Amino acid sequence: MSTLAYLKSFFKDKDVASVTPTSKYCVRRVCNPINFDQDINIVEYGAGAGVFSRYLLQHMTPGSKLYLFETNEILFGKLKEIDDSRITLFDNSVEYAKELIPDDQIGKIDYIISGIPFSFLDEDARESVLKQSVDLLKEGGRFLAYQTSGHLEEPLQKAFGNVKTGWEWRNIPPMTIYEAEKRKMESTE
Ligand SMILES: C[S@@+](CC[C@H](N)C(=O)[O-])C[C@H]1O[C@@H](n2cnc3c(N)ncnc32)[C@H](O)[C@@H]1O
Repeated sequence: MSTLAYLKSFFKDKDVASVTPTSKYCVRRVCNPINFDQDINIVEYGAGAGVFSRYLLQHMTPGSKLYLFETNEILFGKLKEIDDSRITLFDNSVEYAKELIPDDQIGKIDYIISGIPFSFLDEDARESVLKQSVDLLKEGGRFLAYQTSGHLEEPLQKAFGNVKTGWEWRNIPPMTIYEAEKRKMESTE
């Protein structure tokens, strides 16, 4: 059913940037650095129909929180079907994440997972989303992203001062996987 939702959305909305949900291999690979043994706060950029969201909810403790951003109306409808009190949903662009996430969570986010097509954003918007991501994360927090190419390595290096990349072939199309960590003194404020 999700693939149908993606196909319908893809032809109407270029920002969907995918005709099918991310594969289970890629989901596991991106989420590999997450420590699910304790209460954590996660923000997901571009949650789509919820393939990552469902995986995260299966593994997160009852006291954890998940903030989901998705701009496509059809895919947002799919997210609304997930019945779990740990979720807060936003049908807004991630460009407004710092304004919308509760104040007491700013600088307390453990992980940001991002599948939005960064290559569609202009340079200013991309830089602003990455700076805001640094502010949202706590020290030691990680930005975990998947993209169809390696174009995000340089912007992440600039925003975080570090980045690791990997590759997951078992996805249509194959994905470049990124992991950047918020280290000391990287807040933009
Ligand atoms: C490549 S799809 C990934 C969807 C899903 N996470 C998955 O893994 O199957 C990218 C998603 O990001 C959403 N998106 C694109 N730009 C966005 C933005 N600025 N803010 C929020 N969501 C956005 C699209 O609508 C789409 O659902």
